[in-house]
This record gives sequence, C-alpha cells and structure tokens, in this order.
Amino acid sequence: MSKTISGFSKLSKSKKIDWIVDTYFSNKEDAKHIIKQYWNSNDKLQQLHDEFIENTITNYYLPLGVAPNFLINGTSYTIPMAIEESSVVAAASKAAKFWYDRGGFKAEVLSTTKIGQVHFIYNGKTETLQKYFDSVKSKLFADTESLTKNMQKRGGGILDIELRDKTKDIKGYYQLHATFETLDAMGANFINSCLEQFAKTFKSEAHHFELFTSDEKNIQIVMSILSNYVPNCLVRAEVSCKIEELSDDKKVSSEEFAAKFLQAVNIAEVEPYRAVTHNKGIMNGIDAVVLATGNDFRAVEAGVHAYASRNGRYSSLTHAKIENGIFTFWIEIPLALGTVGGLTNLHPLVKLSLEMLHKPSAKELMKIVAVAGLAQNFAALRSLTTTGIQEGHMKMHLMNILNQFEATDNEKIILVDHFKTNVVTHNAVVDAINKLRNKS
Ligand code: MEV
Repeated sequence: MSKTISGFSKLSKSKKIDWIVDTYFSNKEDAKHIIKQYWNSNDKLQQLHDEFIENTITNYYLPLGVAPNFLINGTSYTIPMAIEESSVVAAASKAAKFWYDRGGFKAEVLSTTKIGQVHFIYNGKTETLQKYFDSVKSKLFADTESLTKNMQKRGGGILDIELRDKTKDIKGYYQLHATFETLDAMGANFINSCLEQFAKTFKSEAHHFELFTSDEKNIQIVMSILSNYVPNCLVRAEVSCKIEELSDDKKVSSEEFAAKFLQAVNIAEVEPYRAVTHNKGIMNGIDAVVLATGNDFRAVEAGVHAYASRNGRYSSLTHAKIENGIFTFWIEIPLALGTVGGLTNLHPLVKLSLEMLHKPSAKELMKIVAVAGLAQNFAALRSLTTTGIQEGHMKMHLMNILNQFEATDNEKIILVDHFKTNVVTHNAVVDAINKLRNKS
C-alpha cells in the first residue's frame, strides 16, 4: 500500500486506525489492540481528548504524580507533576520535605508583561514612518477595543506599542513591538488577535497617510505573532538557612556540603556544557508542573533557554551564595503561564491539579512552578555533590527494569527488598531476577 494518503483527516477515527495499521504494522491485530487499549471507556471523556487535536487515534499516558510537603510563602502545597522520568517526583518530594523543616520556599513575581510583534517591511524614510506610527497609534488601540474590553475591565490589556527599526539587521525591516498584561490567561490567543488587528489597521491606514509616497504606502506585513521570550514575566524563588542546618547526612559536614554545592552552581554559571544539564534538571520540575496544569511547556522551554543565554553565554538559571553564615539558593526564571482559558477549563486532570494547588492565579502558579524547578535543582545538586546521581536514580529506575522483565508482584517485593541494601545496576537486576527465577 502507498504510504501517502489524501483526505486522511476526513476519515473516521476507525478508518484512520485501519489505514495506519494496514500501512505500518506486520502484526495488525496487536497494533490495533494497543491503540484501543488506551481509549477511555467513558465516550464523552474520550471525545473530549479526541477533539483536542486533529487525527487522534488514542491517548498517550504520562503518570501524574504528586510531591507533597512544599511550603511556599507559608502555605503548604502538594504539587502535581506529569512526567515519565522515574526519579523526578521522588527528588522533588525529598527537597520539599528538607526545606519544609527549614522555613520553606519564598517566592515573588517580579514582573508579568508579555510581548507580541508585527514584523513588516517598509522601504522609505524612517522619519516618515515614525510620523505615520505616531499618527496611527491611537487607532491601533481603538481598533482592538472589542478584543481588549474584557481584559481591560480586569486590569489588563495592551500596555504599549512601539515602532522598532530593525533595518540594521534586514533591509526595510521594522516592527510594531507591543507589550501586554494578560492577567490569569497565558494570553496567546488574545495577543495574536490584537497583533493581527494592528497589522490590518497599520497596513490599511498607510494608504491614507499624506506624507507617504505611493511606494511608502505599500507596507508589507510579514507576520504577526506573540513572542515566547518573556524576560519581563519573571519570578524569583529562594530557600535559605544557616549553614549548620544544611546537612542532614552524618557523612558530610554542612560546611563541606555548602562549599561543594556552591561550586557546582558556579560551574553551571560559567560552563555551558554543564549549564545545559543543570537547567535540564530544573526543567524536569518545571515542565512536569506546567504540563499537569495544562500550560504550554514548549513555550516555557523556549523562553527559559533564551533567558539562560541573555548575556551572550548559556548559563545557570539558579544561583547560590553564602553570606554571614547563611546559605541562600535561588532561581530567577521567566514563566508565561495561565490558570484560565486553554486546557485549564477543559481537561479534567488539569482542573483537578489546579484545585489541588488551591486554584492559583497565574502569579501564584508562577511561584509554584519556579519552586518546583528550584527544588528539583537542589535535589540534583545534592545527589551529584554527595552520593552521585546514579544511586537514587537507579533505585527509582529499578521498577522500570523489573517491568521490562515482566516481574510478578511477588518478585517485585523480593527484589525491591534485595536492592535496599545492594547497588542497582541493570546487570545486577537482571542477575537477581534470573537467580530468583532459577531458584523457584
Ligand atoms: C536528569 O534528568 C537531570 C540531572 O542530570 C540534572 C543535573 O545534572 O543537574 C540529574
């Protein structure tokens, strides 16, 4: 059968599955069984998921775990995390408990504005364009009133629109660079709708601007789109304690631990190879909460990594210091999140997650997510600078290896117990399974 197909999206779900199975699988029954096994038995719920995207054939599960014992600005939270990596939730929980006993996390939102741009080409005098922009600016606001009315009532909307000259980079390239406050909404649709209206108004009004030559009147709109780079939608979270309270491990003194921890952070600040992995660990925590709360983790990822390189070198998102005997560890991170709109009102698990988090505003969610990232980084650096990462990681991975070998419940009990006192490696687990099975 040919591997291209036209009109695929118009086929029924079952016909789509037939085509996929017939085209790509040798064991067609098996493939169909796996696809259908993941359908929800509640037709309405399944339909909801089917309609999130096009060409849905089934659901793709990720575990939704919870990390309890987070104390953030004096409030206790259990944080929901959707993630497949075995050690992430355990690490977050451990860090949460550790800091709960030391005053918890402090978090504050530093700023909340977002950016959108209309990119256009204009071949003419910049001064004339500036005059045109000044004359049309109020109309840009006026023409978007129907879009901004509700947002404005709640204290948000379009904050400013600037004309930016980018002709040094590309001939004739300018932007309308707009700043938005979208309150509890992530705001992508709101921003993009405003931008597309700006573009329409800006292009059409140019035809009536008397100072333009006929060529100058012909402004070419290239595109209108929000930016996922949000350096002014920033949150800071921190933990601190006296150095002597820092180690709960008798084998490592608090001073030694603090010094090594600081070095690890310093290395991530100056060494991009390390910074990427360091920040990846932070994103383990961040993405898991962003996903559980129905937010766009790709947008967050893109914005965060751009922020990590804002000074021209990719660097750590977290920082640490020791001053007057106090250890302080903090993160500053851009997070454009929403707690209304999008999936937040649609996905039952997202609603559940948000309720578990005391139905946060976007600002509160920014704090919680930043804390999850900081906690994750603390847990990773603590392991890396003391026991090494593999000890904890492989303990959590043990269940995956056991499942790979289809261990029974009884085998799991015996082997989990065995590996409480033995080092987990893939080979050691395989040996232990074989030994157990040969015995019986
Ligand atoms: C693994 O997913 C994340 C770590 O590599 C992060 C780090 O090295 O800091 C453990």
